[in-house]
Amino acid sequence: MGRLLFINTIDSRILAGITMFVGMMILVGWVAINEESRMQSFVRQHNGRSIERGAELFASLCSECHGEEGYGQGDRAPGLNNPHLFGYDAVGAQTAAITLANRALVRLNDNSETLLAEFTDAENPPSEARQTEILAAIEDLEAQIEEQQAAITAAVAQRVEALNSLDTATDNDLFPLWDTVVDIETTAVDEVEVFFNTNGTRLAQVGWAGDLHGYIVTTLIHGRPGSVNVYPNGTGMAAWSQTAGGPLRQDQIEDLAAYIMNWDKGEGWTTEDFIAVQQYGKPLADGSLPSEPPPPPAGDDVAGILARWAAEEVVGSATSGELLYDAEYGCTDCHRNGASAPDTVGTASRILNERLTLPQFAGYTVEQYLVESITRPGDYVVDSYSSGLMPSNFGVRMTDQQLADIVAYLLTQE
Ligand code: HEC
Ligand code: HEC
Repeated sequence: MGRLLFINTIDSRILAGITMFVGMMILVGWVAINEESRMQSFVRQHNGRSIERGAELFASLCSECHGEEGYGQGDRAPGLNNPHLFGYDAVGAQTAAITLANRALVRLNDNSETLLAEFTDAENPPSEARQTEILAAIEDLEAQIEEQQAAITAAVAQRVEALNSLDTATDNDLFPLWDTVVDIETTAVDEVEVFFNTNGTRLAQVGWAGDLHGYIVTTLIHGRPGSVNVYPNGTGMAAWSQTAGGPLRQDQIEDLAAYIMNWDKGEGWTTEDFIAVQQYGKPLADGSLPSEPPPPPAGDDVAGILARWAAEEVVGSATSGELLYDAEYGCTDCHRNGASAPDTVGTASRILNERLTLPQFAGYTVEQYLVESITRPGDYVVDSYSSGLMPSNFGVRMTDQQLADIVAYLLTQE
């Protein structure tokens, strides 16, 4: 009995062990399976909130010109909820078919000419057998050439039909003036194709080599100087970023970009979507779009800024720093002669001899203290001043280089 009990106990212990092990495996498996979807749902939620914030900003700042639903307004601002902007070419299939057939045609014509040259070569006349061969080959090529020409004619007709079905879209500057710029009857086929290949999407039209997200963000940061001349019913596209003197922080610009990008329908755009757009992007004013995005702002991650300066060998210029300090950022308004902030003169030695002797700055360099004071003024407030006087957004307004220039200037203030 006792023995049985003993065995029983062992058995049940083993059983309990196995059960536990299996249970653990199920749990581990369950967590592993769900980790992925939890991550995804986290990312979705994060993107969702960014899009929501972007929607609010859009309604209050952008819809006045770009329209509540982003369809644009005539001669005021181009549509952003817009297949053309998202790279969906309304006649892309036909244009691609024509381009392909054209290429084949060139190749077939070349082959045919080579054969003809061999056939008519007086110095080296082909044998009779070869002549028969050549004639047959040329005949075959002619048939293929006719086939390609027919394919081109058909695709051209389909493209005209597609363009006509786009109705008001073409009046609203999709393919600006395609029927007058490109007279299908008289313009050389190659030129017509260059036109459609370079006007099929907005990014091709303006010659932007990067992606759409970069295009949107760059436009928001930099604005489009001169666009008011192209859009007489509005005041043009302003620079919105704080780095360019506008009202928006970098994260708000990203939220707006997320909201706009969320309009993308991929391959699902329809003719109705094309017709809904009230104004398509027009050819740009000269120099209104920088070829590459401006450098990002320095931000307020002090260690990160200093690491970048070291890695990218950023060297500040005290001369430009002085200009930035006096004119561009108006630091001097508060700091001159200690008007309402610590005096500019003596900044470097004051920091070295007074601030850095404080326990919380043990191990700091003067440079590090300066970067922190400028980008995170709230972290330490100089005695006898109240917090919040020094503006806290210089980090998002300055580039790395500008910040380095200002620091270089302040280091000369001994
Ligand atoms: C005062 C009118 C106006 C306001 C307000 C305005 N825009 Fe624009 N926007 C324009 C004009 C005009 C253009 C076309 C510029 C050009 O073609 O060079 C433009 C162009 C753009 C483009 C590039 C479109 C393209 O096809 O090239 C984007 C993206 C854009 N705006 C986003 C915004 C966002 C986001 C806001 C709100 C923060 C905004 N705009 C506010 C007038 C405005
Ligand atoms: C509106 C007034 C104002 C403006 C504009 C301003 N500051 Fe200040 N700044 C202050 C005040 C007040 C303090 C002291 C309180 C504190 O530490 O925040 C301060 C502190 C500093 C300090 C720390 C000085 C020390 O002795 O420890 C530095 C460095 C500094 N500012 C640099 C700048 C730079 C660079 C700019 C321009 C990009 C600037 N400030 C613009 C008001 C201003």
